[in-house]
Amino acid sequence: MRMYDLITKKKQGGTLSETEIREMIAGFTEGTVPDYQMAAMAMAIYFQGMTREETAWLTDAMAHSGDTVDLSMFGKWTADKHSTGGVGDKTTLIVAPIVAACGLKVAKMSGRGLGHTGGTVDKLESIEGYRSSLSQEEFLAQVERVGLAVIGQTGNLTPADKKLYALRDVTATVDSIPLIVSSIMSKKLAAGSQTIVLDVKAGSGAFMRDGKSAGVLAREMVAIGKACGRKMAAFVTNMDVPLGKNIGNSLEVIEAIGVLKGEIHGDLRTLCLHLAAAMISLGLEMDFETALQQATACLEEGRAFEKFTAWIEAQGGNVEWVRNPSQFPGAAHIMPVRAERDGYIALMNTEQIGLCAGLLGAGRVRKEDAVDFAAGIVLRKKTGDYVQAGDVLAELHTNIATILPEAEKCFQTAVLIQNAQPEALPLIMERID
Ligand code: URA
Repeated sequence: MRMYDLITKKKQGGTLSETEIREMIAGFTEGTVPDYQMAAMAMAIYFQGMTREETAWLTDAMAHSGDTVDLSMFGKWTADKHSTGGVGDKTTLIVAPIVAACGLKVAKMSGRGLGHTGGTVDKLESIEGYRSSLSQEEFLAQVERVGLAVIGQTGNLTPADKKLYALRDVTATVDSIPLIVSSIMSKKLAAGSQTIVLDVKAGSGAFMRDGKSAGVLAREMVAIGKACGRKMAAFVTNMDVPLGKNIGNSLEVIEAIGVLKGEIHGDLRTLCLHLAAAMISLGLEMDFETALQQATACLEEGRAFEKFTAWIEAQGGNVEWVRNPSQFPGAAHIMPVRAERDGYIALMNTEQIGLCAGLLGAGRVRKEDAVDFAAGIVLRKKTGDYVQAGDVLAELHTNIATILPEAEKCFQTAVLIQNAQPEALPLIMERID
């Protein structure tokens, strides 16, 4: 195989064979295919696309470019979820214990936050003592015993994706459907679960800005996952407004605990129940409506909260904080942001609200940055709400007092208040089975 010939073939709109794709990924992983040639290939794929078969081969080759997690000891009862990332998205903290309490095994690897979206591992680490690094043996033993474990990405999982993503990031080739699909799905396949449910976000706080393109991405990922032998479903969900009310690490854990205890209803709970129901329906082989009833009963009877407590305890987290969330350390400064006029909240620029939480200390710009667990935003009003001048729109939580004027301005300019009531957007825009 000459990489030059493969680049030429793709540049001219040709279809790569399975052998060519596997050799290219093997060479790139080992370093015999240099970065500059792989970057040229990424650009050729960006312009020419890939057939579904090519995307499936690329996904499978990247999934097997390093270690894979062997969950075969749990048979077909393993389920995972993936969200394409949004603001206030703490669904894993709620969905995983619901699904585990209903009888599936959740062996999940999650990421840290970068940019305007938060990472599940950061949220979990805001609980005193939580260990997000477990050995493979500890990880599997906990899944066996408790039914779920959530750790950070470890080992040499999908090294080809790690290298290719870094190249795409600096060569303007991130937003290519086959490259996104193979990147996300290779990691999910390597993580080993038999059932995979995707939450593809659409809107101002998401990677995909509109429902139509999010739907295309979701359908491709479902098709590729199925082609690689997994049970798949996806939802396209609204990220034109933050999910739930709390944004920021410990604030999001506190909100998730509120949902698990039955104290909080609304969009977050509804979405979690739907994601959980899709996992239960595929994993335990029942129709979606029955699965939704089971997930709801599990939440209402407190079994999901018990499972959450058992999970956090097993990973070393302080369960006193879970039982009594007022023990999470709060931020030193809490500042209300008030409406400047009467009217309806017509729009919330969700990416900007995520960036505002970052300014307050909740996020990181570079991988090595530390996050402030207590920092973030509590929304008091959301899109569609009517407000009067002076009403509190949100509270900004931070330990950096000097950032408050800039953060307030950032939040104010992210919210548009108008006289006309906006049209309500559905939370779940599409379900793909
Ligand atoms: N997330 C990923 O993991 N990969 C992409 O290509 C885009 C988003």
